[in-house]
Amino acid sequence: MTAISAQAVYADRRARLAAQLGPDDIAIIPTAPERARNRDSEFLYRFDSYFYYLTGFTEPQAWLVITGDGRSTLFCQPKDLEREIWDGYRLGPEAAPAHLGVDAAVSVAELDQRLPRLLENRQAVWYPFAIHTGLESRVAGWLGAVRARVRFGALCPEVQHDLCRLLDEMRLIKDAHEQAVMRRAAQISAGAHVRAMQRSAAMLGAGQPVREYHLDAELLHEFRQHGSQYPAYSSIVAAGANACVLHYRADNAPVRDGELVLIDAGCELDGYASDITRTFPANGRFTGPQRALYDLVLASQEAAVAATRPGARFTDPHEATVKVLTQGMLDLGLLDKNQHGTLDDAIENRHYFAFYMHRTSHWLGLDVHDCGSYVEPSERGQTSERQDPLSGETITNRPSRILRPGMVLTLEPGLYVRPSDSVPPAFWNIGIRIEDDAIVTETGCELITRDVPVEADAIEALMRG
Ligand code: GLY
Ligand code: MN
Ligand code: MN
Repeated sequence: MTAISAQAVYADRRARLAAQLGPDDIAIIPTAPERARNRDSEFLYRFDSYFYYLTGFTEPQAWLVITGDGRSTLFCQPKDLEREIWDGYRLGPEAAPAHLGVDAAVSVAELDQRLPRLLENRQAVWYPFAIHTGLESRVAGWLGAVRARVRFGALCPEVQHDLCRLLDEMRLIKDAHEQAVMRRAAQISAGAHVRAMQRSAAMLGAGQPVREYHLDAELLHEFRQHGSQYPAYSSIVAAGANACVLHYRADNAPVRDGELVLIDAGCELDGYASDITRTFPANGRFTGPQRALYDLVLASQEAAVAATRPGARFTDPHEATVKVLTQGMLDLGLLDKNQHGTLDDAIENRHYFAFYMHRTSHWLGLDVHDCGSYVEPSERGQTSERQDPLSGETITNRPSRILRPGMVLTLEPGLYVRPSDSVPPAFWNIGIRIEDDAIVTETGCELITRDVPVEADAIEALMRG
């Protein structure tokens, strides 16, 4: 994408946001702060997703202000030769309008002085609630400065709104620019999974000891080799029983011949996350019990894929998954038919939860667990109540979101079997998850992560190669 057309993408988003503000309203969007890691070292900088969505600007210390008339002002770091020698290039306010397409740009050093003037005579002020520590009190300080000028005829905004309400809805439907970046991120991540699988089989085949970090290194290599800036989240590389720990990280456990490895890893590319999980035999060959559980999880994912189409609800893929998984648990003896009754009983009483305790999907985008309401906005008020069969808590149900083209979600069923007297020992310590990323299309969904195979036979063939 050229600089000009990328600029148009962000300008269009700002215009669409401004059109939803009242004519006398104002919106304030800061980027993320830099964060200390230890002593004087900082974490690698990551901009705020809302701010980036509206600007494409990746420098820290920046704010965007949009007014109801469609005008946008950027506050950014001033040019400073000495600081740039240490920390790198800064765009600076002079170059920003031509480069980013904003109407005006000002040094961020002037923020506290300029903001009260910008807030003066506005009806309502919008900003992201409960995202940026201290922002609420900062806005309060600026409003206080406006009030101090009331005797000079200044009007002070009387209403504050959560800007996330508007931006979350916009970000939920990915435009063509976003879909293109996400396809590329998915492709890179798929290549990284292929590389890790092949490396595992090659090292074990050569009699070399393998540890989880060896496979993590392969992922990182492939991400960076193709221009990804960083992993979209902490990679999970879980050998053997570690796969049953849902938030395990890549650590130093040995990867043993005969065990499975679960890798949940995806790169971030130009702000956009990908999120893939594959589970494969460390040596390239599934055992019988591993294969039985693997094929069950795959069948449940196929049911989820079939349920992902426009007009369906966000919860439909989950319900389709649970049905297949629970039937499989009864058939394979993970759940005792005599004890748990029929499929409907086992679902109704959530008995599957012992082996499948997470949801099947989440939105994916600039954030790995992306923003966007999971409740259908026009039906928010239609509530019903039910008693959770496991915790006994009362849960308020609201109608699940209706899927529409351009939404992007993961489909990630799993099975996690811990040792237990009630479970055949052949299945103990097997953890399996299969996760792909789906764009909802006009007719169904497009899986953008399938450059890494998912069928057991195809994984074995890949690892033999
Ligand atoms: N990798 C995070 C998730 O799958 O939700
Ligand atoms: Mn996920
Ligand atoms: Mn994941």
